Amino acid sequence: MSRVPIEIALPGQAQADALAVPISRPVSGGGVTGDGARIVDEKLRGRLTALAESGELRGDRGEAVLLHLDGELQAPRVVAVGVGEHDEVDADALRTAGAAAAAALARVGGTLDLLLDDSLPLPLPEQAAALVEGVIIGGYSPGAWKTEDPAKRPRQIERIVIGHFDDQKLRDAAERASLLAERTNRARDLANMPPNELNPHTLGEHAKELAREHEHLTCEVLGTRELDELGMGALSAVGRGSRNEPRLIVLRYEPPETTTGVVLGLVGKSITFDTGGISLKPGAKMEDMKGDMAGGAGTLHGIGAIAALQLPVRAVAVLAAAENMPGGDAFRPGDILRAANGKTIEIINTDAEGRLVLADGMWYARREGATHLLELSTLTGAMELALGDLYAGYFTNDEDWSDRIRAAADRSGDLAWRFPLHDRYRRYIDSAYADMKNGSTLRQGSPVLAAKFLEEFAGDGPWAHVDMAGPGFLERSRGDYLRVPGGTGYGVRLIAELASGLT
Ligand code: BES
Ligand code: MN
Ligand code: ZN
Repeated sequence: MSRVPIEIALPGQAQADALAVPISRPVSGGGVTGDGARIVDEKLRGRLTALAESGELRGDRGEAVLLHLDGELQAPRVVAVGVGEHDEVDADALRTAGAAAAAALARVGGTLDLLLDDSLPLPLPEQAAALVEGVIIGGYSPGAWKTEDPAKRPRQIERIVIGHFDDQKLRDAAERASLLAERTNRARDLANMPPNELNPHTLGEHAKELAREHEHLTCEVLGTRELDELGMGALSAVGRGSRNEPRLIVLRYEPPETTTGVVLGLVGKSITFDTGGISLKPGAKMEDMKGDMAGGAGTLHGIGAIAALQLPVRAVAVLAAAENMPGGDAFRPGDILRAANGKTIEIINTDAEGRLVLADGMWYARREGATHLLELSTLTGAMELALGDLYAGYFTNDEDWSDRIRAAADRSGDLAWRFPLHDRYRRYIDSAYADMKNGSTLRQGSPVLAAKFLEEFAGDGPWAHVDMAGPGFLERSRGDYLRVPGGTGYGVRLIAELASGLT
């Protein structure tokens, strides 16, 4: 998939396959709002108003009504997309509307002209960005492995026109949204790849390929020998049960100019398949554990987005990659490991493997000079139980870092809610034999004790752990702009937004 080009043209003046018109509630009494929509309605001799009055068009969030035209406009179709209550329209509503338009046009594809609505409580550049993101993220299909007749495949929107007079801010916002949406979809591709295709080695190859796309991005992949030399006993142990050996995948973004001394350290859990290891998982839904590298995918395409946007902030991304398998050489409950920072870990459960690979990954990011850490992982099932598939939960040791993450989450759509890191939770991982254990036998506080474990390896300086077990990989559509199961690309937009705020 390549980037969808953006153009700007006066409302309805562009040749397009369809024109999308946002419709808000209430629609009764001819509530077609916005100059663009009113002009279109006039040209259609009031058909939109009539549909609103008949109740066929309601303006509900995510609704899409397709009209075929007879030469009244430059486009042969209008897709009226609902954005919900007029005064409550936000970016999420417009992303959802954009996705609904893409879905309604899945048999058409081609060029889509998007109208904005200057009466909505959202600045026009933000409206354009949200609609563009929605169209591209909502148009994503996870069925790349289907062998069906190509003519029957869903058609993609290949070109987007923003129906407005040209304005640099509007253009920049739409271009940025197109870039981020495309990177988000690339992260989804990685998470959706089956584990017989994506393993620590092939993930490293993807990272190298990404680095080749960008002048100031480099990639280095460390294998088992280097991991042993660095003393990464935690990552090595997790990877040992599989014939697909572990890797530490490192990307560095060194822009020619920087406006801050911050070095953003991004660390991603990249378990290409999590069977649980010797503490084997139950069989039901185990196939979704191919998505246990979704944090790494978001991290990889997050630093890729930073490079593509040419942000003036240095960044380093570390993907701690392993396949967690049972086997004759697999690590076991009872083993005591030594991590790269010298601390020892008693293994209680080999299925608590994410925190182990991250321990060594975070240490390496600090060694590379990271001043601020953001770590992303599908870490605990309990976080998905707590927050469902919408919000990630995050933990941090720094108030300013917390505020920045919260703000970036809200703005980007990669939502995150803060959880506590009280020191008295540390007792859950006290071990009789080693510095700590990797789990607890109590059925309590699983996400926070995992965070306390990670804190032991976070080094000095601001650090945050984002547990994205819920929103990282979906079992089913979420009813918004993520219309399909599988990888969501969570983290790409969050990272880009966070990094933009550091410059
Ligand atoms: N990858 C899983 C967590 C997970 C579960 C993510 C479901 C997404 C959906 C992780 O490695 C894991 O197995 N966590 C265990 C930890 C436990 C053994 C301490 C969990 O949460 O059950
Ligand atoms: Mn696990
Ligand atoms: Zn896992």
